[in-house]
Amino acid sequence: MPLSAPAPASPPITEEAIRRLVHRFYAQVRQDETLGPIFNARVADWDHHLEMLCDFWSSLLLGTRRFKGAPIPAHARIPDLSWPLFQRWLALFHGVTAGLDHPALQAQADAMAERIAAKLWSVWQTRQSLPRLPDTLPEGVRPYRESPVFTPDNLPAGLRSAHTTKDGTWGLLKVHAGVLRYTLDDPPHTEVVLAAGQQVVIEPQVRHHVAFELPGSFQITFCRAGEAEPPAPGGA
Ligand code: HEM
Repeated sequence: MPLSAPAPASPPITEEAIRRLVHRFYAQVRQDETLGPIFNARVADWDHHLEMLCDFWSSLLLGTRRFKGAPIPAHARIPDLSWPLFQRWLALFHGVTAGLDHPALQAQADAMAERIAAKLWSVWQTRQSLPRLPDTLPEGVRPYRESPVFTPDNLPAGLRSAHTTKDGTWGLLKVHAGVLRYTLDDPPHTEVVLAAGQQVVIEPQVRHHVAFELPGSFQITFCRAGEAEPPAPGGA
């Protein structure tokens, strides 16, 4: 007899398990005080919508290719989306997947939902003319050094609380994956929530900090005025 039994294998992902996930999740969404009104104002035929969402998840999780919709434009035209709404959506979704007693479905659906939420948020922001922090460097400011690639595992505490770049140093922060919040610590305390592919300029001596909203990675290119080409790797 082995001393400890191995963890029970997760059951395979089936259409029925997907259907349970979709129906439970949207039953909660429809009741939710922030998300409910957005859906209820736009979805006239819930039976049809739920079928489409089952096709969507079946295409993602089982590769059935039944889904024929277009989520990106469908979300880009919703006027009042915000990152906190996506967080609410994800919190409900994670709550439902955790209650299915289906570890494989939970792990895969949660990871896909987070990636898609980040993508939908990125496209939505790009298509709105929101007041933004600068995302391009001023004329004549050139790169001289790259930071390491930061992830939630190696993000230094110093970057998570208020700090500045060195005098005369600009930073171009690019998000490669996940979602990152970039906050200015002095009035007017502006903040932006950046998804993969988005970037922000860190101005010299401006106090700021960052926090991951969804796990991912980012990197900063340090720049200053009048520098020549970036040094070769290993150069001074
Ligand atoms: C703030 C969070 C979200 C809100 C408020 C939201 C809201 C909506 C609404 C109102 C529709 C119906 C649009 C219409 O028929 O005109 C819709 C469609 C849809 N949503 Fe979302 N959604 C959110 C996040 C997500 C996420 C994270 C996913 C996927 C992981 C997703 C997947 C879909 C799909 C597949 C459709 C059908 C698109 C189509 O008609 O082709 N949604 N959503």
